[in-house]
Amino acid sequence: MDIQFVAAGAGLPAKAAVARIVFEGDSHDGPIGQAVGASRFTGAKGQTLDILAPQGEDAARLVLVGAGKRDGFDAMAAERAAATAYNAVKTSGLESLRIEGVADHAAQAALGVRLASYRFDKYRTKEAADKKPSIVKASIVAADVDAAFAAFAPLAALADAISFTRDLVSEPPNVLYPASFAARVKELESLGLEVEILGEAEMAKLGMGSLLAVGQGSIRESQLAVIKWYGAADKSAQPVAFVGKGVCFDTGGISIKPADGMEDMKWDMGGAGAVAGLMHALAGRKAKVNAVGILGLVENMPDGNAYRPGDVLTSMSGQTIEVVNTDAEGRLVLADALWYCQDRFKPKFMVDLATLTGAIIIAIGNDLAGCYANDEELAVNLLAASKAEDEGLWRMPLPDAYNKQIDSMIADMKNTGGRPGGSITAALFLQKYVNGVPWAHLDIAGVAWKKPSSIPTSPDGATGFGVRLLNRMVQDKYEG
Ligand code: BES
Ligand code: MN
Ligand code: ZN
Repeated sequence: MDIQFVAAGAGLPAKAAVARIVFEGDSHDGPIGQAVGASRFTGAKGQTLDILAPQGEDAARLVLVGAGKRDGFDAMAAERAAATAYNAVKTSGLESLRIEGVADHAAQAALGVRLASYRFDKYRTKEAADKKPSIVKASIVAADVDAAFAAFAPLAALADAISFTRDLVSEPPNVLYPASFAARVKELESLGLEVEILGEAEMAKLGMGSLLAVGQGSIRESQLAVIKWYGAADKSAQPVAFVGKGVCFDTGGISIKPADGMEDMKWDMGGAGAVAGLMHALAGRKAKVNAVGILGLVENMPDGNAYRPGDVLTSMSGQTIEVVNTDAEGRLVLADALWYCQDRFKPKFMVDLATLTGAIIIAIGNDLAGCYANDEELAVNLLAASKAEDEGLWRMPLPDAYNKQIDSMIADMKNTGGRPGGSITAALFLQKYVNGVPWAHLDIAGVAWKKPSSIPTSPDGATGFGVRLLNRMVQDKYEG
């Protein structure tokens, strides 16, 4: 998508649609007023009215985009309205889109168009021409063109990062497996990140018996990716750390999942995808922070060498785990990744992201991620960033009493606590591997992927959830 900022009154290119942001209570006269009068368009948020060949307008097509109440029109509203404008005309056959009326939120409107126009089409070879998006250029009318252009630079870096995450999550599991995922992350070195990849032999030396057990039934070698961005003035300052569950495919292992919907388990690496995208964003905008991203990359498969229900594993922490269900594999991966993270980097805090449990979807649905934290300041900062970026988080409890659900008869703990509070006992399990470090766990099982999507900036499929909110938290609270 080619994006430009233009002054009001700039010439309109050929084959252009104009989208005009309007508000509830605005009055419209002439032919546009007539069109509005013949419809139920009120200017409410998310509404559009498509007017073809309106008299007295330069554009062959005018789309009114409702943005709700004028005094609630902020950067996020501008972003969503611009995305809605793009969605309204994307397959219209026209090639360019001009957006008017975003006031001084032109850069954010551009972000909206960038995010809405994301598409993963590399495996389509015969899509009909009239099904393909036709809009390839967007120009946004800005009060101050130079200022808009400057304000867009960090937002463009964010959009690139979110696209990177969406690409990783969308890739099929025959293409994206631990080693190929690690190789894509290694390519981020071109942005100035430092990336180390550990294979199974190195992880075995570190004693990562928990993570390695999950991958042992797969012919794909498990990997641990360590991504470093040391952008603070003081390179010895304690880093902030992010850890992602990267189960590139989750069959359930010997506790195998039912066939129906199993294909969705290609996105069980959404947490690792988000952490990789976050590191991309930090490097892309040269964030003044020291940050570490750790990805536990495995494939959970059943075969003759697979781990079994009943196995007892010894984790890097020394704690032992009785496996009762090989489908509760994400926590086994994170147990070693979290322990390694705090042991090696002594971070200020750790935030892990994981498509960890179906139970979080039952509890809070598909518009919120569960947020567990052992530290109030970290929780407050996460929730504030969640609000600012409109990526929903809901605080969940870590009740000590529920730990008894994961007591084992023969080991330090079991890997599942049964159905009651399934997302909570998963979080309590993880807490045993953070060694008292300030930590938060985001259970993103309901939000990493959506079909259909519920927000205009996120096409159906991979959302990239987490990148924005963590980038925001770092920017507002941990830089400088
Ligand atoms: N990857 C799944 C969780 C999941 C389920 C994510 C549905 C997205 C949609 C995870 O590894 C898993 O299988 N969890 C089990 C845990 C159970 C065996 C204790 C679950 O949620 O059923
Ligand atoms: Mn599983
Ligand atoms: Zn899983």
